[in-house]
Amino acid sequence: MKKSHHIETLISESDIQRRTREIGAALSKELAGKDLVVVGLLNGSFIFMADLVRALDLDVEVSFMRVASYGGQTVTTGEVKILHDLDCTIQGRDVLIIEDIIDTGLTLYKVRNVLKDRQPASIRIVTLLDKPSRRRVEVPVDYVGFTIEDHFVVGCGLDAAGRYRNLPYIGVVTPGEA
Ligand code: IMP
Ligand code: MG
Repeated sequence: MKKSHHIETLISESDIQRRTREIGAALSKELAGKDLVVVGLLNGSFIFMADLVRALDLDVEVSFMRVASYGGQTVTTGEVKILHDLDCTIQGRDVLIIEDIIDTGLTLYKVRNVLKDRQPASIRIVTLLDKPSRRRVEVPVDYVGFTIEDHFVVGCGLDAAGRYRNLPYIGVVTPGEA
């Protein structure tokens, strides 16, 4: 693929595939027999979600949500702007939220509260990547693909200004290089 930045591979495509299958197998055991709704947070989760749901040996309903994330100070109050909401009810059902990366934790903290208000039977969170050193609010995360240092990463759904989501590996962008 044509790139205008230098991108250093951090996690290879095969490592991501192996780990996704591992998580899928664990979730398939844990969630057997449940009335499962898989919630993907757009846009970043679409690639990991597509891979993970295919690694689930379960009946699932898939739905998407898109929220606006503000970087400001008021965000810890739990307010969140929903740009696109789920197209199904989650009351009494088991919810699995799929995220690309947890950074400050604010997005998931808010989304989790919004979904909790709808009285699901349970909420689980799975993320491809976790940057714990950047956390501002604690969120209970059930499955983490890979824990990474404080790098800005792209690929597997993650973007830099809208680009590089389709890279099949996770890479670190080195700025200023053509
Ligand atoms: P949080 O609310 O700070 O946890 O933000 C999570 C969101 O920030 C993710 O869903 C990503 O869209 C974005 N994000 C955080 N770190 C990165 C990164 O290294 N690369 C690309 N997007 C990121
Ligand atoms: Mg995102």
